[in-house]
Amino acid sequence: MPVDESSPAGKTVCVTGAGGYIASWIVKSLLERGYTVKGTVRNPDDPKNTHLRELEGAKERLILCKADLQDYEALKAAISGCDGVFHTASPVTDDPEQMVEPAVNGAKFVINAAAETQVKRVVITSSIGAVYMDPNRDPDAVVDETCWSDLEFCKNTKVN
Ligand SMILES: NC(=O)c1ccc[n+]([C@@H]2O[C@H](COP(=O)([O-])OP(=O)(O)OC[C@H]3O[C@@H](n4cnc5c(N)ncnc54)[C@H](OP(=O)(O)O)[C@@H]3O)[C@@H](O)[C@H]2O)c1
Repeated sequence: MPVDESSPAGKTVCVTGAGGYIASWIVKSLLERGYTVKGTVRNPDDPKNTHLRELEGAKERLILCKADLQDYEALKAAISGCDGVFHTASPVTDDPEQMVEPAVNGAKFVINAAAETQVKRVVITSSIGAVYMDPNRDPDAVVDETCWSDLEFCKNTKVN
């Protein structure tokens, strides 16, 4: 009998920053579809992550792993053995000093850990702010992964 490769049963997906806004919806959706979810959070005991444990299927199929974005080994341990990764963890602030470097390093760690542990697919959540802000592009142009915002324009206008 052919194996149904699309079946979520028995598949495990890692969601970084599991307690965050976007991640919580991803975790909910994955659990509802039957996946096992390894969610990374900085502090599994923080009450702000309680809602995750109350999701349908969480008791049976949600594992919360402690991992900071700057901790490669902790990220690798969470990602290891997963079929896919949704990377959403990111410092969210208006201060570029506090955001850019940790976010970039964290994304590199996640990609490297996924490559090292042979994860098949990684989905990275970015922001429209990373691609859209370019005064030299037609505002009606469709933006994709080849487009980047103009850094000087963002700095000068303080738009992000
Ligand atoms: N919300 C939107 O409408 C939207 C739209 C487009 C794109 N995005 C992008 O999607 C991503 C997530 O956005 P969000 O709105 O879901 O943000 P959020 O609710 O603030 O969630 C961000 C998560 O990142 C985690 N985090 C922050 N710093 C961390 C670190 N050093 N190590 C590990 N985890 C860390 C936080 O975990 P702790 O709980 O441990 O602090 C939090 O759970 C961001 O890249 C954002 O730019 C969001």
